Amino acid sequence: MGGDKLDGQRVVVFGGSSGIGLSTARLALTQGALVTIASRIQGRLESAGAQLGDVDIAVVDVTDPGGVARFFDDRAPFDHVVISAADLAVGPLRAQSLAEARRTMESKFWGAVHVAHAARIKPGGTLTLVSGMLGQRPSGNATMLSAVNAALDALAQALALELAPIRVNCVSPGRVDTPWWNHLDETSRRELFERTAATLPVGRIGKPEAIAQQVVQFMLNDFITGSVVQVDGGNHLV
Ligand SMILES: NC(=O)c1ccc[n+]([C@@H]2O[C@H](COP(=O)([O-])OP(=O)(O)OC[C@H]3O[C@@H](n4cnc5c(N)ncnc54)[C@H](OP(=O)(O)O)[C@@H]3O)[C@@H](O)[C@H]2O)c1
Repeated sequence: MGGDKLDGQRVVVFGGSSGIGLSTARLALTQGALVTIASRIQGRLESAGAQLGDVDIAVVDVTDPGGVARFFDDRAPFDHVVISAADLAVGPLRAQSLAEARRTMESKFWGAVHVAHAARIKPGGTLTLVSGMLGQRPSGNATMLSAVNAALDALAQALALELAPIRVNCVSPGRVDTPWWNHLDETSRRELFERTAATLPVGRIGKPEAIAQQVVQFMLNDFITGSVVQVDGGNHLV
């Protein structure tokens, strides 16, 4: 495995119906991969599938370990598995209920664990996790998300040792313009993006394509494993 292209390689992206996952699915397709996108809501999968063209779609909730196991049991092993799925409750811990705090862990951390536990990946294939810069630069306004991201960075490194010769890596994005931010109204979103851009060495916030490029690099470069790569416009420095 490795090389310039993903011709005929089987790729599944959990969280592939939106944002970073959708961009990753699109880029893998352009590299010749056979792509499956998996997430919870059939309608979102169908509209992502209509944009992408020739992809398989699968309704899977990563918080349900039985559903994740069935997904892999029903299919041939994959070359590359990507987990970009997350349903997050963001805020200071003590402004949240414990149920909200758990939701972030359940979907982003345990979801990744469920996939890592059940995934059938060919030797030399890859597993890629998506964490986030809050793991290295925590925020008191996103306490649980900071903790989850740091946990995912460590999980990827431990899994790289445990699952070798499968290669396991983690991309740690900075602020990226995806539909996730639609929970803010348009003015607040624009103001936040402008404020962030002004602090970053690159002077702008990220596009999901930039994160997808790194995920596909993990698939293609067969000397990378156990790496956590920051794709954050320099946010970890400022
Ligand atoms: N955007 C940023 O600024 C940013 C920054 C740092 C890190 N990240 C991380 O990057 C990852 C992707 O974020 P994004 O911005 O691309 O988010 P997004 O656009 O909201 O996409 C999230 C995807 O996950 C799916 N999903 C959510 N819960 C799921 C579950 N329980 N089971 C299966 N699929 C589920 C969603 O589809 P359904 O809702 O239909 O299931 C959707 O396809 C997340 O881990 C996020 O924390 C993002």
